[in-house]
Amino acid sequence: MEKYVIKGGKPLQGEVDISGAKNAAVAIIPAALMVDGVCRIENMPQISDTDMLLTILTHLGAEVKLINGSTIEIDSRNVKFSDAPFDLMRKIRASYYLIGAMLSRFGSAKTTMPGGCNFGVRPIDQHIKGMNALGADIEVRNGFVYAEAPDGRLHGAKIYLDKVSVGATMNIILAATLATGRTIIENAAREPHIVDLANFLNSMGADIRGAGTDTIKVNGVDKLHGGSYSIIPDQIEAGTYMVAAAATGGEVLIKNVIPKHLDCISAKLRETGTIVLEYEDSVLVKGNGNLRKANIKTLPYPGFPTDMQPQMGALLCMANGTSVITEGIYDNRFKYVNELRKMGADVQVDGRIAIFEGRAKLTGAPVMACDLRAGAAIVIAGLCASGTTEIEDIHFIERGYENFVGKLRALGADISIVDFPDEPDIHEKVIAIG
Ligand code: EPZ
Repeated sequence: MEKYVIKGGKPLQGEVDISGAKNAAVAIIPAALMVDGVCRIENMPQISDTDMLLTILTHLGAEVKLINGSTIEIDSRNVKFSDAPFDLMRKIRASYYLIGAMLSRFGSAKTTMPGGCNFGVRPIDQHIKGMNALGADIEVRNGFVYAEAPDGRLHGAKIYLDKVSVGATMNIILAATLATGRTIIENAAREPHIVDLANFLNSMGADIRGAGTDTIKVNGVDKLHGGSYSIIPDQIEAGTYMVAAAATGGEVLIKNVIPKHLDCISAKLRETGTIVLEYEDSVLVKGNGNLRKANIKTLPYPGFPTDMQPQMGALLCMANGTSVITEGIYDNRFKYVNELRKMGADVQVDGRIAIFEGRAKLTGAPVMACDLRAGAAIVIAGLCASGTTEIEDIHFIERGYENFVGKLRALGADISIVDFPDEPDIHEKVIAIG
């Protein structure tokens, strides 16, 4: 079993280049299914979530070419509606985007219920509400989602989302792009990756306005043509390195970012006494080894991103004073706290609220990555801890961070991937003894 092995206590120093945004890429790849031509996509992050989606598109008949490290070409002109690899679909949350994309392209869709990180209940009722409004019949049966546009094509509608949902907003945009007539999405999510999806589709001939606001208008078009597009930098990857620099008391220039997308993270880090300097496409973060406490409530963009909550938790358990984090999006996103406790953190969790007593002198320990961002948080804790930290279940982290170990090592971190022989499970041992 591969684990990260970290010898902590070294401040991060140097420069790091941020890759393309995972949560934009996992919507743009399904969107390429709708394009009657070749899509050249630059700044594609090389992570397992995008690999899985590209494999699914290939199974549907798309031709995927790797032009260079982060530039690919997708030609979906010969795709046919067929069963895609459901075992891959079940592993990722973003497989739900295939519903909107396949409905647009084929007038029908069959996907699995989405997978993804487990933060408690993560329904897709708002996705279904949107598809129904656009005229699709949706049925969830035996763990699959079946969707059908009765007359082969969806029609525009006015949809008010009951909850601000990134996924539902993006999925409805995908389904409305090739529908007849106008669609208006109200109470829409405003994340940067939603704007990126709209910009990608518009560059291929769609007519989408208002992305990034809470009201998005989509005028359906008959077809999309090929073209080129470059994915925006990953706001959360950038934020993760910002927090790692602050927590380790280092000095790191985080390059290839859009500082505006990082406003909330920069503001919160400044509250802890961290210096954050903004340039045109980079930010410089200087930790001072004497972190102040801070309180956080996660909210939809432009509020503090829930995907940065665990990373800040790792920092705040070492800050001077008591900090409170309120998780405003998910029911259960504090599983990483148990792992921090193994390293000496003093944190109380009650539902959606966690109280970090601070001043912890973290020590290395064998810990687990419970999910993608929890794993990033534990890496940050390991970088700060005295002694050695071994992290298992690193596949969660590899879903969303391109070359995480390589980028951290380039910043001076003592981190490596070590393959440990798999422990025979206790059942096998009992048989052996018996
Ligand atoms: C996306 O998930 C991201 N994933 C998540 O990032 C991110 O945490 C989340 O948006 C919020 O920013 C991808 O983009 C692949 P939501 P999504 O729909 O679309 C509830 C990461 O670490 N809800 O905005 O699933 C839902 O339960 C991942 O990169 C409904 O009730 O998030 C949650 O409480 C983790 N009904 C809230 O809304 C629905 O139909 C926000 O969810 C949909 C969502």
